[in-house]
Amino acid sequence: MKLNKKVLALLVLGGLSVSGNSMAGTASAEALANTCAGCHGIDGSSTGPAIPSIAEMSAEYFNEAMLDYQTKDGRYNTIMTRIAKGYSEEEIKLMADYFAKKKMARYVQKFDAEQAKAGKELHDKYCEKCHEDGGRSAEDDAGILAGQWTTYLHYTMDDYIEGRREMTKKMKKKVKKAMKADADAMSKLINYYGSQN
Ligand code: HEC
Ligand code: HEC
Repeated sequence: MKLNKKVLALLVLGGLSVSGNSMAGTASAEALANTCAGCHGIDGSSTGPAIPSIAEMSAEYFNEAMLDYQTKDGRYNTIMTRIAKGYSEEEIKLMADYFAKKKMARYVQKFDAEQAKAGKELHDKYCEKCHEDGGRSAEDDAGILAGQWTTYLHYTMDDYIEGRREMTKKMKKKVKKAMKADADAMSKLINYYGSQN
């Protein structure tokens, strides 16, 4: 069967089954992923500080984030809750695999060097266990923190702390401990993540 990518993408978007053709997955994943580029940047590396990069994140983390957005009482965001509802589990899986293979571009961000240094120490003590390699690893399935946009990280930590997004029990404990040890811990940690490019 000789079909170009555009035609294949149309077929897949139209709901026709073209499974069994190894090209189909690639074409449809790319077509699906292109609809995210306006906000998340080309191939998932965002250029705007309030929108997270989604390149390189593990397929597991990506799948869970999208399913959480779809779930009532799950992770709520006015934009992403609406967008996630438009995709089937199968389509989400295709996009998850697609973005996991893209390298995340880390842009130089403004940060406070002293805060970043203190943040590294806090990270090693309270966060490294799950956010490995200074928050750079995608393999730990806890998202990518190193080089992520700091404006997004500030919003996210506020969402967690104020209960709009649920932390895992173990993370909650560590976040509490870090904040108890240092009232400015979150700002220091975020400066550390923002210092990595
Ligand atoms: C109109 C802008 C916009 C578009 C289009 C958009 N997103 Fe998002 N996305 C956002 C924002 C804003 C957030 C942060 C939401 C939050 O705080 O939970 C986000 C968050 C995410 C996250 C979670 C990231 C993390 O680090 O936990 C994933 C995954 C995601 N988007 C996937 C997608 C996919 C896949 C598409 C295309 C089908 C898409 N987005 C299209 C704005 C957008
Ligand atoms: C016991 C493991 C564990 C520890 C310790 C932990 N985390 Fe997490 N973290 C996770 C998991 C799992 C996720 C993804 C699940 C979710 O969506 O909440 C996550 C997600 C995050 C996110 C969201 C990433 C994104 O792209 O939206 C941030 C930010 C974060 N953690 C910060 C921290 C900080 C800061 C610390 C240390 C004070 C910490 N975590 C400690 C397991 C942990």
